[in-house]
Amino acid sequence: MTQSETVQSLIESSKIYQMVTERLDLIENEPLNFESELMELILEFYSNDESELPVEKLRKFSMMQVMYYLQASHKLYISKTLPEIEQSMAHIQRRYYDTPQVLDALVLFFNHYKTHFLEHIRMEERDFFPYLKKLYNAYTGDLSREEVQKLLNNTSIDQFIDDHDAVEDELRHVSTIIHDYSAYESIPLPFKVFLNQVELFEMDLRKHAIIEDHVLVPMAQKIEKELRERF
Ligand SMILES: [Fe+2]
Ligand SMILES: [Fe+2]
Repeated sequence: MTQSETVQSLIESSKIYQMVTERLDLIENEPLNFESELMELILEFYSNDESELPVEKLRKFSMMQVMYYLQASHKLYISKTLPEIEQSMAHIQRRYYDTPQVLDALVLFFNHYKTHFLEHIRMEERDFFPYLKKLYNAYTGDLSREEVQKLLNNTSIDQFIDDHDAVEDELRHVSTIIHDYSAYESIPLPFKVFLNQVELFEMDLRKHAIIEDHVLVPMAQKIEKELRERF
């Protein structure tokens, strides 16, 4: 590794560290009980490209802790990540108003993407997470027998799995638009910054989706199955 590569990788890892840890402040529920060990595992998962998600290690945390973490991520995306990307896009629009093709394509795509992305998060916050919270309450004995039966009759985790689309995959299109516009070497700096932000966001969303699908959903399925057997 050359010195500049070392510096580059340090910058990258501190960026990832900041990216992950700043959502700790956004965890509204029981912040004092929030396990720093969970954050360490997630940080490890974010820093290491090749490593498998440590599913086994994550199983010892409660479903609610994993859910609160994912909820905090949603907040971060809406309050910080998306506005920052939009700011870069606005900057590009101001500076490169004379190259309308690439700009129109970018703005059009990104606005469309944002609508879809917000709808994805809204569905999770409106339907999925509240269902998990109720499942957990049922599991810990906070709901009456009738309430549990009603809950299990009306909803299931399988419905969520069917509705859960891979919203992160579409973001690759940003890079296609920019690379189509110019060969990589000649991409102007503001476009590179924008591309970098979008790629980081894409990586974040990919990990987010893996935690949702491979940690949270199996935890919920297990609880749901036990409840269905019990009631
Ligand atoms: Fe999510
Ligand atoms: Fe999701």
